Amino acid sequence: MKIAVVTGASSGMGREFALKIDKSGLDELWVIARRKERLESLQAEIGIPVRAISLDLTDALSYSEYATLLKQASPDVKMLVNCSGYGKFGTYEDVPLEDCNGMIDLNCKALVNITQLTLPYMSEGASILNLDSLSAFQPVPYLNVYAATKAFVLSYSRGLCMELKPRGIHCMAICPGWVKTEFFDRAETTNNGRVNYFNHTYTATQVVDRALKDLKKKKQVSVCGLPIRNQVRLVKLLPHSLVMKIWCSQQQNKKKSR
Ligand SMILES: NC(=O)c1ccc[n+]([C@@H]2O[C@H](COP(=O)([O-])OP(=O)(O)OC[C@H]3O[C@@H](n4cnc5c(N)ncnc54)[C@H](OP(=O)(O)O)[C@@H]3O)[C@@H](O)[C@H]2O)c1
Repeated sequence: MKIAVVTGASSGMGREFALKIDKSGLDELWVIARRKERLESLQAEIGIPVRAISLDLTDALSYSEYATLLKQASPDVKMLVNCSGYGKFGTYEDVPLEDCNGMIDLNCKALVNITQLTLPYMSEGASILNLDSLSAFQPVPYLNVYAATKAFVLSYSRGLCMELKPRGIHCMAICPGWVKTEFFDRAETTNNGRVNYFNHTYTATQVVDRALKDLKKKKQVSVCGLPIRNQVRLVKLLPHSLVMKIWCSQQQNKKKSR
């Protein structure tokens, strides 16, 4: 049985990937997140059977549940898209320790666990897409733990891509800037008075379309939008201390809504 697996498919970019990825030759689409009804609602829009798997990926028990599902079905996983993730805005005092751990658990640990558990079921021609972030390229005060988790994802994805070359499996990190999704509903629940400036915002459709084009070109990193690609280039050239100063002054001096 040939399948694709998408985590975080109940909203935002994960949902968009679930709708947009090429289903030709696939027997089933497995979608993972906590909100089962949202996952089940995807079936109405997808022409192959959708398996809605309700898992809280911050709970380590979910890994063994996923492992059992894989063992039972023994599928050939053609594509894995890791989209489950969240961030919180605010200073180190504003973001509760529970959320610092939650971001590390979901954005890093869950992504690695799902990937490692899936890899034995992947073969030549398969691909892994990891939803990363523009914040992966620099330290980001007031989005600090989140950005650090995304730096991890970038490093992990690049290294894994190299390791998987002999198996003919491609791994790509997707590093968008701001994207209009439910991400902000969760990010802004802290006592955030710091992150106010949103220079460019994109839609989930724009990011996913770009990523699927970049996948065809076997890119290791996908960045949507020329201004964001220029920002990545600049950040690579400038010292991090200067990049952080610019970011902080933008946040303090300007308000640009999404
Ligand atoms: N939006 C942005 O500006 C932006 C920019 C750069 C990168 N990103 C990254 O893009 C990815 C997707 O985010 P999005 O913008 O599409 O936001 P979103 O609409 O909030 O989607 C997040 C997804 O993660 C799932 N999720 C959250 N907690 C989970 C948990 N404990 N277990 C399993 N799944 C969980 C959510 O499903 P349930 O709530 O149903 O569990 C949802 O499907 C994230 O990694 C995010 O960090 C976002």
